[in-house]
Amino acid sequence: MTDRRKLAAGNWKMNGAEPDLAEIDALATAHPAPGVDVLVCPPAPLIHRMAQRLSESTIDVGGQDCHAAASGAHTGDISAAMLLDAGAYYVILGHSERRADHGETSADVAAKVRAAADARLVSIVCVGETLAEREDGKALSVVGAQLAGSLPDDVTPEMLVIAYEPVWAIGTGKVASISDIAEMHGAIRTALVDRFGAGGQGIRILYGGSVKPGNAAEIFAVPDVDGALVGGASLTAEDFGAIITALEAA
Ligand code: 13P
Repeated sequence: MTDRRKLAAGNWKMNGAEPDLAEIDALATAHPAPGVDVLVCPPAPLIHRMAQRLSESTIDVGGQDCHAAASGAHTGDISAAMLLDAGAYYVILGHSERRADHGETSADVAAKVRAAADARLVSIVCVGETLAEREDGKALSVVGAQLAGSLPDDVTPEMLVIAYEPVWAIGTGKVASISDIAEMHGAIRTALVDRFGAGGQGIRILYGGSVKPGNAAEIFAVPDVDGALVGGASLTAEDFGAIITALEAA
């Protein structure tokens, strides 16, 4: 169960419009048969167009959020089944920006993971501590509580990816130290095995937070780092391609 396929996932956040799909064409051309799984999660209006552009490619498309309900009176929201219908195969859930901007709790995230699994979407469940929590020595306990609370009981491990993204490392150019990444990813692996048994060994754990071409290789060398969730550097084919190449070599 330890032969986890590595995953390079890009999160475009609220960036990108039609002309930026040229970056996706360039990425697909430069990486026609990547030796790792590659995923790009654009803003919702681009999902279908991106999926169409990638129809001949092995690069997957994902959403950045979904609603916990399958349908109904939820103006502005998108269901997991709608993401699938648009061409998505994954969905990022519980990103710290959604936890902060939209007050999402771990219980909310767990309900969304349930909905995503029902729609056959793989969830990338994000966890991570703030700087104050790390300085207080609470990083492991905060992330452990987020992880426990964000995973519904009856989800199968095959439908899960975990992303450890320290909040203070996102978009700041600061990266957690190699020893802190190793400690946290090891703790997350232990928690997943406690929760899911042998299936927990198969769940990929991504690191996220200022991953760039220049620091990717040393991060990917850390045990239990199975890839990255990349924000800013996923917006260009050149930078994201270099990160994919580093992951292939790891
Ligand atoms: P940056 O790579 O821009 O720091 O963003 C990380 C992130 O939040 C990915 O979800």
